[in-house]
Amino acid sequence: MSLIKKAVIPIAGFGTRFLPITKSVPKEMIPILDKPTIHYIVEEAVNSGITDILFVTSKHKKCIEDYFDNFKELENVLELSGNYEMLNIIKDISNMANISFVRQKEQKGLGHAIYHAKAFVGSDPFCVLLGDDLIYNDNKPCLKQLIDIHDDYGGSVIGVQKVDFKDVDKYGIIDGVEVYKDLYEVKNLIEKPHVDHAPSNIAILGRYIISPSIFEFLEEGLVGKGGEIQLTDSILKLLTNEKVYAYNFEGIRYDIGNKLGYLEATIDYALRDNSINRDLTRYLKER
Ligand code: G1P
Repeated sequence: MSLIKKAVIPIAGFGTRFLPITKSVPKEMIPILDKPTIHYIVEEAVNSGITDILFVTSKHKKCIEDYFDNFKELENVLELSGNYEMLNIIKDISNMANISFVRQKEQKGLGHAIYHAKAFVGSDPFCVLLGDDLIYNDNKPCLKQLIDIHDDYGGSVIGVQKVDFKDVDKYGIIDGVEVYKDLYEVKNLIEKPHVDHAPSNIAILGRYIISPSIFEFLEEGLVGKGGEIQLTDSILKLLTNEKVYAYNFEGIRYDIGNKLGYLEATIDYALRDNSINRDLTRYLKER
């Protein structure tokens, strides 16, 4: 059994790529079918053995707290009307994990957001999941794959996949030595490099197992790419004393932070849903 039980999910961002809806609805609450995207992220964590989740949040995200809270009045209505199936679904959402929240008062970058988890994390390695990366694997969740690597090899573990070279400037990019099939020992990391300076096209895709020593470096608050405190820069510093691995995980990854990726996810999840896939297929063929 893995000792990794804690996950941090930063949700403080403005979601500017989805304005105007994100003016009043957090991007994490935009649905894929009938569940908000953040539900899928929490589900992945829980299905990977995580019991405690910290959301690093901000103003205007209160409905995410409500979503994971219980709602007795609604449960009573569902019970009285005999809708036990939905009653169980609703109850399960508030029992998925021990969820807590900390406010990030200013948005100074991903590294700054993760620094807010210092007290929650304590002295064990912990996970980070980013909500813009939705990863589908109905056999073994991406995060569980990384936890298994950590349990075998120790150190920090970053989830990666290859991307087109033309897209390397959208990601943290790693340079490493393949020590086993799909497993790299990381030698360097660069946040959003220009294609001419990218050491590879192996991109960090929103899933991490991180050593608690990261907080020593995050505390320095060094400003990096885009004028932000980057998590990638502090992971680079970890390399001085500790091993960092990158694992080319199995799973389909959707970039739901952009409109096309979001639509692709919506269509694929609907095609996997027995209650809707036949009608949707017919509709798509007609189109
Ligand atoms: C963040 C990380 C970057 C990573 C990306 C994955 O960037 O800083 O290293 O590749 O997430 O989605 P962001 O997209 O938040 O700017």
